[in-house]
Order: sequence, then C-alpha cells, then structure tokens
Amino acid sequence: MANENKLQDLIGHCKEYGFVFQSSEIYDGLGAVYDYGQYGVELKRNIRDYWWRSMTQMHDNIVGIDAAIFMHPTVWKASGHVDNFSDPMIDNKDSKKRYRVDHLIEGFVENLDKEKGEAIINQMEALLAADDFVGLKNLIDDNAMKCPIGGTCNWTDVRQFNLMFATEFGAIAADNPDDNKVYLRPETAQGIFVNFLNVQKSGRMKIPFGIAQTGKAFRNEIVARGFIFRMREFEQMEMQFFVRPGTQKQWYDYWKEERMKWHLSLGISADHYKFHDHIKLAHYADMASDIEYDFPMGFKEVEGIHSRTNFDLTQHQEFSKKKMQYFDADIDPETGKAFGNYIPYVVETSIGLDRTVMMLLSEAYQIEDLSTEERKDDRVVLKFAPFLAPIKLAVFPLTKKDGLPDLAKKLMDECRPMFKCFYEEKDAIGKRYRRQDAIGTPFCVTIDHQSLEDKTVTIRHRDSMLQERVPMSEVKNIVMKSISVF
Ligand code: GAP
Repeated sequence: MANENKLQDLIGHCKEYGFVFQSSEIYDGLGAVYDYGQYGVELKRNIRDYWWRSMTQMHDNIVGIDAAIFMHPTVWKASGHVDNFSDPMIDNKDSKKRYRVDHLIEGFVENLDKEKGEAIINQMEALLAADDFVGLKNLIDDNAMKCPIGGTCNWTDVRQFNLMFATEFGAIAADNPDDNKVYLRPETAQGIFVNFLNVQKSGRMKIPFGIAQTGKAFRNEIVARGFIFRMREFEQMEMQFFVRPGTQKQWYDYWKEERMKWHLSLGISADHYKFHDHIKLAHYADMASDIEYDFPMGFKEVEGIHSRTNFDLTQHQEFSKKKMQYFDADIDPETGKAFGNYIPYVVETSIGLDRTVMMLLSEAYQIEDLSTEERKDDRVVLKFAPFLAPIKLAVFPLTKKDGLPDLAKKLMDECRPMFKCFYEEKDAIGKRYRRQDAIGTPFCVTIDHQSLEDKTVTIRHRDSMLQERVPMSEVKNIVMKSISVF
C-alpha cells in the first residue's frame, strides 16, 4: 500500500548522495524535470547497458538504432498522436488546478476501503474505455471528489488535452506558424517504424526480427508526480518486434514472459511484480499488458508490452506514399506458396529508464537497525545487484602514511580498467564503509600494514557486512565474478 514516508526518504537520499536532483533547483526547479547526479548517472547507464545487451547481444535477430528526437511532423499525424495522444482532464474552477481524470480518481480511492475503491476504479476503467466523458464527470460529482489542493468540488467538464510538446524548426518564422512546427517525440518507437525498411534491407533481416532503441521522450504530463516516476522529459528503452500477421499472439506471449524474466534478473523478488492486462487499449493496440512494480505509491506500471498490429506501418505507408511491405520468401505450409508481400505486425516492449531507476532505488533502499545496548545505530544501505551498482569497489588505505596509499593506488590501477572504483583516504574506516553502503557499493577493500608485508587485504561485503582477508591479487576476480551477468 502507499508509503509516503518511504518516498520522501528516498527523494531525500537521492539528493544527499548524488543520485537525482531537481532540474534548475536554484531557480526553484522545473516541474517534473530532473537531473541525474554522479551516482544516478552511473546507475542509469548500467541499466541502459544491461537492457541494450539483453536485447541486441543476447538475441540473434535484434539490432539497435539511434534515431533523432526531431521527426517530420507528418510522422505524428500518421501515428495518431496529433489526434489521439491526449488524456481526459478536468479543471477545478476555484483552485484553477488541472488534473488527469484517472489520477484524480485514483488519488480519491486511496482513502477509501478496498472494496469501495475497487468498485470505483472498475467504473472508471469502463468509462475510460468507452471515452464516456460525461460518465466520468458524473462519477467525480456523485462521489463528491474534492480538489486535493483547494478542497472544493467545483469542476469543469472533462476534456481532452494533447501531451506533445511542440517547437519551431528553422530560423525563419513562417507566415503560418504551423508550417515550422515540429514535436519533441513523445515515444521513441516512431523512429523505429520509419526506419523499418532501412534496417531490414541494409541488415538483410528476416522476419521475425526486432529493432531496439533507447532515448529521450517528452510528454507534457498534466499532473506530474511521484518523483522520477512521471516526468515531462524522460528516457525510454523500446524494442519493436516485426512478425508475420497472425503470429502476434504467440510473440506477445513470448515477450511478456521474456520481459518478466529480465525484470527478475535485476534481483527483484517475483512478489513485487504483477501483470496488468489492459481493458482500454491505445489507438494502435489489439493486446496490451503492463508489468507493474510495487513502488512506494503502490503497484504501478514500469513497462508495457503491446501488440501494435500493423497500425503504425500501415499509417506510414498511407501518409508517406512509400511501401512499407516486406517480402516473405518462406513457404506457407497451408498453400505451398511463399507467404509473399505483407505489412508486418509489431509486438513492442517499452520500458521507462527513469522508472526503472526509481524501481531499483525503491527496492534497494533499506534502513537497518544495528543498535546495541550501548548506542543507537541505523545503517542506510542501497542493496543493488552488484552489476547495477554505480561503484563496484571502494579502496581505502587505513592511514595516509607508511606507503599504504601507494599500495591502494596500485590496486585501483589494476581494477579501474575493468569496473568503476572509488578511492578514499579521509575519515575512520567505519565512516567510509557507511558512505559506500549509502550509494550501494558492494565491495570495500581496506589496505593496512599487514598488506605491506603479505599482500593480503580485507574485503568487506556490503549486505552481510562480513569482512575477510584475501590476497590482493584476488580482488579483481572477486568483483568481476560478482558483476558478470550473462
Ligand atoms: N511506445 C509505447 C509507449 O510509449 P507508454 O506505456 O506510453 O508506451 C512506455 O510508455 C513506458 O515509458 C512506460 O511503461 C513508462 O515506464 C515510461 N513512461 C511513460 N511516460 C512516462 C513519464 N511521463 N515519465 C517517466 N516514464 C514514463
């Protein structure tokens, strides 16, 4: 269930330890835009790399691309985003605050008992599925839902609000501003669709095959909340898998299972995940399911698996007047002839990188009570799987004297080409350990006077806090073993 304290603690921790800062903080921030600090950027990069390798390196038939953020404006006409990429929203006339209708209702039911809350959510989902805005307004009025800011029930009608950001392209203002209008992409997927034949032909790809991409996407979210859960500028990791028409159900099921396996490989327990199959489908989909994670705010979507039919490629064929067909030379056992020309169907996996960062932070963040009779002691620790941790190894000379730093730096030089290391001389060893716990470093090594004599060091394991004496020459292997994932 919701845990506001945990969320606030996590936000504070992310700032204090250099994971996530509010954008333009010195100017009081910019709503729902965030910057990653020195450890956040490493965590994010590790997740992105792992996803990229899982997709493109571990599958024969998936390749990557990196398409531009700006695309021809007709792309968004064809994809349906200009007409359909909108959310029903409602304004409170007193507070002048605007809400996404589903968020307002979800917030309202958080304070109800489970049965009543579920009944309202079911009603809401049915009304959303039917685009019944009058019904949604009635649901809000009948339950006397109040504005969370102003506390009144004085609502406008429910209306649609397009989520795309637009800007102008080129230096010369056109007579008609719409002539120069381009959008910041609201999903990376369209860059894949418009390059489908470029990749298929240049890579001699045979269906079924996939194209993967990571990159920024932008949405003018009406109510952006939940830290880096819902942002206006965020990063997606998307893969479009092109399949023969009629086989989409089989591939949809395959990718649901495959993606859940990937999530479990992050070291997150299965009971923190669930699937949520959609009733209301996006304009392009014939089946869709979310992988939801148990965030501090409750179970919420982290990834979507969508069977997008041949909607996007068909639309691009129509709007661009360029053929989007694939020739399938394989023999159809039913007719004994080649499958021939067709527009492929697409199964998409789409995961938010920032949301995955938030999921991993939520899962990893723990406060352990290590108090003894003599003193109170809490340990804040981020228990990331070692391969995802921003820093893999911290190296500490016990003192700044007696040649200990030289030996410590020797170990640093040996290890840093292989993985990210951190060196520190300052403060007592215990304090240095705790600082590394707080950023999730799985191993700390202390170099002491015995190390000078017998070239052994103490390695301390983050989760168990156990320390063992090992040959210095073994340290690199110990860390390498713990971070190898495939
Ligand atoms: N191409 C399909 C697509 O974009 P989506 O369900 O709208 O589907 C996919 O988005 C994923 O992108 C979501 O599961 C979520 O992880 C992430 N995402 C969407 N909107 C976001 C936002 N405003 N802030 C952060 N992540 C977001």
